[in-house]
Formats: sequence, C-alpha cells, structure tokens
Amino acid sequence: MSKDTKKTIEEKVDSLLNIMTLEEKIGQMNQYNGFWDVTGPSPKSGNEAKKYEDIKKGLVGSMLTVRGVDQVRSVQKIAVEDTRLGIPLIIGFDVIHGYKTLSPIPLAEAASWDLEAIEKSASVAASEAAASGINWTFGPNVDVSRDPRWGRVMEGAGEDPFLGSKITTARVKGFQGDDLSQVNTIAACAKHFAGYGFSEAGKEYNTVSIDRSTLYNVVLPPFKAAVDADVKTLMNSFNELDGIPATGNKFLQRDILKDKWGFNGFVISDWASIKEMISWGHAKDLNQAAELAVEAGCDMDMESYAYVDELAKLVKKGKVDEKLIDDAARRILTVKYELGLFDDPYKYCNEALEKAVIGSDENRAAVLDMAKKSIVLLKNENQLLPLPKEGKKITVIGGLANDDNSILGSWRIASDDHSGVSILEGLQKYTGNQLTFKKGADVTVGKTAFTEELTINTTDTSEIKDAVLAAKDADIVVMVLGEHGFQTGEARSRTELDLPGVQQELLEAVYEVNKNIVLVLTNGRPLTINWASENIPAIVEAWQLGTETGNAVAQVLYGDYNPSGKLPMTFPRNIGQIPIYYNHKQTGRPVNADNNVFWSHYSDVASTPLYPFGYGLSYTTFEYSNLNVSKTNFNVEDTIEVTFNLKNTGNYAGKEVAQLYIRDLFASVTRPVKELKGFELVSLNAGETKKITLKLTKEELGFYDNNGDFVIEPGDFKLFVGGSSETSLETEITLN
Ligand code: BGC
Repeated sequence: MSKDTKKTIEEKVDSLLNIMTLEEKIGQMNQYNGFWDVTGPSPKSGNEAKKYEDIKKGLVGSMLTVRGVDQVRSVQKIAVEDTRLGIPLIIGFDVIHGYKTLSPIPLAEAASWDLEAIEKSASVAASEAAASGINWTFGPNVDVSRDPRWGRVMEGAGEDPFLGSKITTARVKGFQGDDLSQVNTIAACAKHFAGYGFSEAGKEYNTVSIDRSTLYNVVLPPFKAAVDADVKTLMNSFNELDGIPATGNKFLQRDILKDKWGFNGFVISDWASIKEMISWGHAKDLNQAAELAVEAGCDMDMESYAYVDELAKLVKKGKVDEKLIDDAARRILTVKYELGLFDDPYKYCNEALEKAVIGSDENRAAVLDMAKKSIVLLKNENQLLPLPKEGKKITVIGGLANDDNSILGSWRIASDDHSGVSILEGLQKYTGNQLTFKKGADVTVGKTAFTEELTINTTDTSEIKDAVLAAKDADIVVMVLGEHGFQTGEARSRTELDLPGVQQELLEAVYEVNKNIVLVLTNGRPLTINWASENIPAIVEAWQLGTETGNAVAQVLYGDYNPSGKLPMTFPRNIGQIPIYYNHKQTGRPVNADNNVFWSHYSDVASTPLYPFGYGLSYTTFEYSNLNVSKTNFNVEDTIEVTFNLKNTGNYAGKEVAQLYIRDLFASVTRPVKELKGFELVSLNAGETKKITLKLTKEELGFYDNNGDFVIEPGDFKLFVGGSSETSLETEITLN
C-alpha cells in the first residue's frame, strides 16, 4: 500500500471514529457466528433475534461462517442499509486448506517444503473464498507443536520454528496477495497466539507449560514472521500462559505483539475465549472477563457476547479507558478500509465470479500439484515402487482406499462431503494392471460429520478373511490404512497413535500370505508404525490430500511423479517418547561415557525417532559432498556462504530438499543440538550434480535470550548439511 493510501485511510478512520457513539465503536469489536437463514424471513425470538437486532443497531462489526454470495449480500445489506452509519461487516471464515476445492491438510503441505507451491495453494483458497463473499480467513494456523497426540497438528506446519516461519510467510502472502483491495485476496489471521501447540499431554484445550527460552525461540517466531509479512489479524488462544489465559494476557498481546513488534492490525478472541476466562478461574463474571480482555489487547470478541453486553458499562463506570475502545475500533476499521469494503461493501458479492472461480479446472490442477508435492516416501525396499504399469495382478485393500470423504481431511466446512477422488478411483485410471479391491476393514462405523463423534471399528474383523484370500496370489498388494479425516483436527486428541481399529490385524494377516505390500498411509499426524516400518517393504505417507488425493497418490505410486516430500514432524517409535523432536537439548549426560546407566536415555526403547524430522526418500538417490564455507572465522556482520555438491546418483530425475542445520556449541542460554537454518528444493536429472550455496547471517546465528531480546554471541558453531535432520556432512566455524 502506498504512503498516500495509508494516510488517506488513517484520515478516513479518524473522521468516522469522530462521529461514532461509544456503542457503535464497541459494535465494531463484536463478532457473531452465522445464524438464521439470512436470505429468509428475519428471526423473531431467541438468540438469533438478538443477533439480528444487534446488526440493525450497528452493534456488530463482523460475522463468521456466513458464506456464499447470496447469504453474504443479505447480511451485508442489513449492516449497510439499516444501520445509522452503514459500516460494512467483515466476513470471516475458517479457510484452512482450501475453500471448496481442497488442498492437502496444512501439515501435509508443509511436507513439500515448497514455499512457492504453498503460497499458490493459499492464493487458490483465497480466490475461492473471496468469490463466495468472504473477506477474511482464520488462517494460517502457525502453532508449532511437538506432540502428535494433539489433533490440531494437522492444521500447522509441524515442529520447527524456522520451517514454520517460512511457511507462515508464504501462506500470509498467498491469502493477502500484494493488494488486499483486489477481489481475489482476503485478510489472513495468524493463530493461535500463543502456545496452544504445547497443550499439556496433547490434550485439547489444556493448559501449557512453556519456559521463556522455548516461548521466544520456538513458539513466537512464526507469529513474528506473520507480522513481518503484514498479516492483518491475529487470533488469541484457548490456553493459558503462566497462569493467565492468552485472551487476557497483556504480556503477549500488548507488550510483545503490539508494543515490541509494532503490530497494527487487530486481535480477535478465539470462539468464546473471553467468556472461558470465567471457567479458567481468572475472571469472576462476563463483565470482568470483558475488562481483562480489552485491557490485554484483544480487539474483537468472537461469540462471547462480552464486549457488546459489558464494555459500555465498564467505560461509563470509568473502569475501562475509552481510548482502548478507540484503538480497537480504529484497528478493525482500518482493515475494512484496506479490504476496500467502504468503497464497495458488495465487492466480494459477484455471482458470475462465484460460479467461474469455485471448483475451476485451474484450481483443481493447483491442488493436485500441491497434493503430489506433499507425499513423503518413507520406505522403498528393493525398489518395489514405482509400480509397473501393466501385466500385474494388484489387490487394493483397506476401507480408506475407496473413501472419498476422509481424505478431504478435517477443517473443510465449505466443501461438499464425498467430493474427493478416492485412492482406489485414482488407481483405477491406470488400466494396464488387473486391479481387485477388498475392504478388509473399515476404520469407522457410524456417522462422520464434523460435529459427530467418530465410532471406530474395533471389533468387526469379518471382512479380513476375504481380503487375505484376494491378496494371496496377487503380485503386489496396495494397502491403504490410517486415520479417518475426522480423527484429527480440533478436539481430536488421541492417546494411542497406532493404526486405529482392526487395521493392524488386517495388515499382519495380509502380510502372512503376501509380503509384497505397498502401505499407503492416510492420516493427519505422525503415527507409531514400528511394526510396519520393520516388515513392510514400501511405505508412502499420503496424509489427507484433499480433493485430488486419489489422482496424486496414483501418479506417485505409478512413478508419473517422483516424490520429494520430507517430514515436517518427527515420527516417534511409541507414545512414551512424546514429546520427541529433532531440535532438543544436549543435556548434561548425552552419551554413555562411563559405561553405566546414568545417562540421558530410556531403558526400554532407543531415544532416536522412527523417522526423523526432514526425512523422506525419492525414487532416485542423492549424494552430498564437498561441504565448504567461504572462511572459517567470521565477524557478526559477515554473510557466510555454505557450499556443497548435490548429485543425483540414481536412475530417475528427482527433487531433493537440501537442508542446512547449525549448532551453537556454547551460549549463555543452551542451544539445541541442531537447528534448521536453511534449505533449498533442488531438481536434478539422473546423474546430474549441482553446486548448492546456502547463506547464513547473524539472523540465523543469533537467538532470543530469556528477556526476549535477540542476541548474537561470538563462539564456535557446527554446520551440518544433508537430506534430513540426521545429516551427512559437517564442518565448524567461529564467529568473532
Ligand atoms: C477454533 C479456531 C477457529 C474458530 C472459528 C475455534 O474453535 O479454535 O481456530 O477459527 O473456532 O471457527
């Protein structure tokens, strides 16, 4: 945005604020969920009638979950035509991984390490949402998490703050574009501020315990990246931090976000999180909750009815300074101006565009591309993959194989149920082999709607026999196993991460008669698949890849696309290892130096993961060599060039995510054993070698101290390079 436009917006907001009543300003800070059929008759009683009347009185600044041009226009019309000042609503929606045409779940996208593709995916989502009348997404979710028991890991970018920050920037850029006033861009919202990914024991809505060093170095960097990318909004979180709910946490929202980082967008509460401060035992009633939240810097209230019902009273009593209300309203109105809503409140309401954009061939092609890039090849013994294209008897097994709903993943409110291409359907497009399908076992029984609890099949083994019979004389068996799409997401924490239900039994029964198994996993979080990893020759992590899942999986299995994904989250050997993450601390007793038991380890299981962060194979192989640094002694202002050769030593063209890690050997606050600080997605033809250069500056070599100040301490660093966090090359440098 030009300086002039910014100034004009400031002036417009100021003059609007001048003529607004206290109640109208508070109204801007109030968000309601979609309610009655807004295109039908107006509601006459109950909560819905209150919401309707409040919009007419100018006491609502935003609505969420209203969608579709018809509905958005109806509700916008009330705000614009029936209220005293005609201030347009900002319409929010959870556009998490696509709108109607779905991309892979965000964790899967993160596995691509392909920032361009991720940005494109967010821009496709934005264009569809915008065409449906929406101006604002509650995304990206930038919560770093080390606990796969927590169901919402599917929504984030995994365990690493560096990768997470890069992906955050890409997603914010994708949603917001270069110009927010365009019809195909929407405001983004980095959430949940902050610490939600550290829910104790992976249990949803739980408290968190985060030390300052972890807060500053692991939890906050992706939020900072979002602010640096000019994200327009942030959402606070359901958890507390240091005993203070995030929604009422001044340290987070005012001291860090608004004062230190200079964020000038607005903060929205999470759903009813202002009210939930009462349940936390922090506020005694809604009145006090409203006071605490607004003082702490929460600008908009999602569905607590706290601001709309309590704030004016608090200001009149002199308990809340009206300046805080002015500040919040100013922030919200500014975003509305930036979106162009004051120029044309119906600018997102264009039926022709809605029809043309949503579900277009172009969007389907984009999500297919993203889906292929998100797949991670975990194992491929004896080059079982790619599959031959003809002349083979292939048996496909697993209830999830012909499922066109689960693969859409969680958080797909606007998409149609059963609108995905199933894996079986994708495989059937390759007609050269003889394909047989047997269910073997369903994952779920009963309803799978978003709000319903899933019932997992833990008893029905009646179809296993039939599947085993069909597998017996197949050349290859493709087994599609994993979690149902609704087993992850909000409020879907699990204490076991094995294959749910009777799927393990099915897998072992088939293995008894045929060992030529390709296991395709479809799931929303790391699973504990020790047995499979030991026994099954080929394993493909296919997550939940959205609308085009089946086509993407089939193209990878048949070698029309060579997989290049790398895990954004560690796969544990068992639940007891959690939290397990690559960037852990060294501890005082890292190795068994004295040949006794007193060192940091488990006595029953190795401390290493099953699959480490950054890991993923290809149909070809890569070799790293000749690691060099431009010089070994550096000054703080120098840029360090790290070079190495990457060779494709196999028989296929392919892509490799070359990764650079550092370790600060001694520091005033101990540093992790490894920290990702650079990566490049490199394409190489068979036999080709490329010289790769990655750069390090003080940005990458410094860290946050326990006061949250960024420091660069001279000393020795190790540098590591390789194709996963278990790197192959290393060298040392000294920073003077
Ligand atoms: C979630 C948010 C979401 C909001 C609105 C809450 O339950 O935590 O991430 O944006 O609902 O749907």
